[in-house]
Amino acid sequence: MQAGMSSRLGMSVVVACCLLILSPWAVISVNPSLNDDVLGLIVFKADIQDPEGKLSSWDEDQDNACNFVGAKCNPRNNRVVELNLDGFSLSGHLGRGLVQLQFLRKLSLARNNLTGSISSSIVGMENLRVLDLSENSLSGMLPNDFFQQCGSLKSVSLSNNKFTGAFPGSLGSCPMLESLNVSSNLFSGVLPDSLWSLSELSVLDLSDNSFDGEIPAGIGGMYNLRTIGLRRNGFSGIIPDGIGNCFLLRSIDLSENDFTGSLPGTMQKLTLCTNLNLQVNSLDGDIPDWIGKMESLEVLNLSGNRFSGGLPSSLGNLKALQVLDLSWNGLTGSLAESLHGCSSLLEVDFSHNSFTGDVSSGIFGSKLLMGSLPRLQMLDMSSNYFSGGIPSDFRDMTSSLLSLNLSNNSLAGSIPTSIGSLKALNFLDLSVNRLSGSIPQELGQAISLRELRLQKNQLSGSVPSSIGTCLPLTTLILSDNYLVGTIPVEISKLANLQFVDLSFNNFSGELPKQLANLAHLLNFNISHNHFQGELPLGGFFNTISPYSVSGNPALCGAAVNRSCPAVLPKPIVLNPNSTDATSGPLPDTPGHKRIILSISALVAIGAAAVIVIGVIAITVLNFQVRSSASRSAAAFALSAGDDFSHSHTTDADSGKLVMFSGEPDFSTGTHALLNKDCELGRGGFGAVYRTMLRDGRAVAIKKLTVSSLVKSQDEFEREVKKLGQIRHSNLVAMEGYYWTPSLQLLISEFVSGGNLHKHLHEGSGGSVLPWNERFNIVLGTAKALAHLHKMGIIHYNIKSSNVLIDSKSGEPKVADFGLARLLPMLDRYVLSSKIQSVLGYMAPEFACRTVKITEKCDVYGFGVLVLEVVTGKRPVEYMEDDVIVLCDMVRGALEEGRVEECVDGRLQGEFPTEEAVPVVKLGLICTSQVPSNRPDMAEVVNILELIRCPSEGQEESS
Ligand SMILES: *[C@@H]1O[C@H](CO)[C@@H](O)[C@H](O)[C@H]1NC(C)=O
Ligand SMILES: *[C@@H]1O[C@H](CO)[C@@H](O)[C@H](O)[C@H]1NC(C)=O
Ligand SMILES: *[C@@H]1O[C@H](CO)[C@@H](O)[C@H](O)[C@H]1NC(C)=O
Ligand SMILES: *[C@@H]1O[C@H](CO)[C@@H](O)[C@H](O)[C@H]1NC(C)=O
Repeated sequence: MQAGMSSRLGMSVVVACCLLILSPWAVISVNPSLNDDVLGLIVFKADIQDPEGKLSSWDEDQDNACNFVGAKCNPRNNRVVELNLDGFSLSGHLGRGLVQLQFLRKLSLARNNLTGSISSSIVGMENLRVLDLSENSLSGMLPNDFFQQCGSLKSVSLSNNKFTGAFPGSLGSCPMLESLNVSSNLFSGVLPDSLWSLSELSVLDLSDNSFDGEIPAGIGGMYNLRTIGLRRNGFSGIIPDGIGNCFLLRSIDLSENDFTGSLPGTMQKLTLCTNLNLQVNSLDGDIPDWIGKMESLEVLNLSGNRFSGGLPSSLGNLKALQVLDLSWNGLTGSLAESLHGCSSLLEVDFSHNSFTGDVSSGIFGSKLLMGSLPRLQMLDMSSNYFSGGIPSDFRDMTSSLLSLNLSNNSLAGSIPTSIGSLKALNFLDLSVNRLSGSIPQELGQAISLRELRLQKNQLSGSVPSSIGTCLPLTTLILSDNYLVGTIPVEISKLANLQFVDLSFNNFSGELPKQLANLAHLLNFNISHNHFQGELPLGGFFNTISPYSVSGNPALCGAAVNRSCPAVLPKPIVLNPNSTDATSGPLPDTPGHKRIILSISALVAIGAAAVIVIGVIAITVLNFQVRSSASRSAAAFALSAGDDFSHSHTTDADSGKLVMFSGEPDFSTGTHALLNKDCELGRGGFGAVYRTMLRDGRAVAIKKLTVSSLVKSQDEFEREVKKLGQIRHSNLVAMEGYYWTPSLQLLISEFVSGGNLHKHLHEGSGGSVLPWNERFNIVLGTAKALAHLHKMGIIHYNIKSSNVLIDSKSGEPKVADFGLARLLPMLDRYVLSSKIQSVLGYMAPEFACRTVKITEKCDVYGFGVLVLEVVTGKRPVEYMEDDVIVLCDMVRGALEEGRVEECVDGRLQGEFPTEEAVPVVKLGLICTSQVPSNRPDMAEVVNILELIRCPSEGQEESS
């Protein structure tokens, strides 16, 4: 043996030299005093990988290995007695270097990445007491002589590796062995008999392997056994009587094997046993009465066996019992008083047996109500034959209850209101019973509830809105009941909801639109009810399966393949983030920029003395406003081309499109794509775009940029619908609208000939409007306003850019009427700043808080427009150091008797004076400072018609 040793040593040295020929290690061969431990550890190190450099302190120049990380020496001889390399991230194979460490008592290489198989000796066993190779990836069979000469070995752990094959019989040579843990490997076969004779063994853990065979009666000789774990193997046969002799046993885990037979009576001697896990075997017979003698029991799991008969009343003696799981057996009878005294219980599972009796006696009646299970967290009595009603008084029931499952029984009566006192409850399953009555409002007080399952009962009434306070709720299953009413909108507050099943009830009404906000929904089954109206749009509801909504004949929407009347989902897609608009200058239409200035401008007009100052102020401020307006216009710019396709799968802007007449022509196929290129112009309310309907008809779409001022959806819709009912040949017809909280579009008739402002002041193509057309425009505009006023609508925003000219008929069409009604309140400031934003058209009463604003403000604006049409001049003209206010100018000219000079020079005298002069006078009357001096629009129409027929209206021309 000595010879073998030295030859081995020689070999190792050679190996080391060859391996490290260029390193200082070469001195190994010439260092005669080299310590065996140093040599062995250096060789060990050479065999493995040490990616984290944990062993870098291991240096062969040391006299001994006592300073090596992980090593511990006996101070008397400086020889290594312990090597502890737990969790050093070492990988590679275990070589034989450690065999050199003759004095080693403890070797721990746990929690590394060591691989490969183990040859007959990796370490000298003579002195070894502790061997821990657990949690590596070691594999292969253990050599049969692995445990030879293990006379000192006390503890072996090989758990969590990949060892295979039978366990070596040499284990029997380790008489001192106290702990053997080989759990979680791939060992198989029958255990060596010698194992069962290791009388010092205290911990035996063989779980998670593929061992088979029986436990021999000889186990009774292992009277030091405290823990036996055989879980998840293929052991079979009976539990031998001998086990009762192991009276120090504290933990018995024989679960998930094939043990048969009944519990041996000797087990009653195991009074120190705290854990008895026999679940998932084929044990049968009664649960014996003596079980009450195992009075230290904390966990008793007999689940998944074939136990039968009733519960022994002695169970009540188990005062330390915390977990009692008798589920999935064939137990019968009632619970009666059986748990009397089990005051430590945390979890009780009686499910899947054949228990009978009134649920309100037994465990509920006599125990919970008396508060004798004060710590109970989980109670499962599901899938039995319990009857009776759920006790109505939970008040004394433990407030610690987290989970209550009474499903699949024959419970009747109603759900007690006291359910609300279970503040910690997060799981409640009362499904598949015969419960009736309604779901109590008090349920809302169970504020920890995550799962509520009440399906397949006879519940009636409606879902209480209080459910909205159960914020953690993820699962709400109410299917197969007789529930009625609408879905409370509060459900949409339950942001964690994932599974909702309301199918097979009598629910009705519309689904709250807000349900679309539930971001985590995975299932929302409302099939076979009487829901009606439109399915929520967006979110989960865009992809809801038709099955989930079937059996609701009055429901409409894409998922049920029934289109809702006049409403299509998401027809228009806009990207509010696009910055395309910044790329070009904004069209310079007056009207949308002088946002704050109108009042001051008005004052400037009224007080000629300060006109010059006003001009300066307007010019300066106008510049500022212009630049900020172009910034905000950019922020609201509409998407161009490409942005469209990917900008919208998010549902943020999904909304509602309503067309007032005919078929809805937008479809997600044609896209009412609003594009900067199609912009027609801008006004105080926002930009106008042109787009095509599917049938080729053009419409104008106005995107409201005053959205922050818009009313609630309901009011908005009501007002727009009212405007949509107004039809007149001189009014631009409102065709529909599109609504989302953040974006509103108004869809109206498209008028092809441009607006009056353009015709008058921008000389479209050098052509000059002839007098006849001008008169027509004035008359048509008057008729339009008269009609509006008859309908009780004030335009508020009459100006030449709002009078559109039909290119075919030349007829004027007044646009943008009544939009002020969409604002939350008719505030003067808002009106004047947002709408009457073009200087000169605004009636003076806007500046005067005490005067009521009536339709006479339209008459004023109309008057200015008349003068504008006749003179071809803007209401206010800015000269180099002067401001000319049109009506003042004309009024002055009239007073000086040279009114004809005011008529547009571009007409070159081609106008009938007998029409032009009265029209100018009419314009001046309409611009009277005092509202009551202005005529009604109906009168204006009459007057104009008289003017047009001079033979019947001589007096007007005087
Ligand atoms: C074992 O190796 C794997 C990669 O092969 C690595 O992810 C893991 O962290 C290592 N474990 C230890 C304990 O070093
Ligand atoms: C066996 O070892 C594993 C760790 O590898 C441990 O989790 C388990 O508790 C041990 N068994 C016993 C009975 O101590
Ligand atoms: C009892 O054992 C079964 C089967 O392994 C397991 O599912 C159950 O959780 C255990 N019971 C308790 C209360 O831990
Ligand atoms: C618009 O931008 C905001 C913030 O930059 C972002 O949260 C939002 O999702 C964007 N919307 C779209 C439709 O891209």
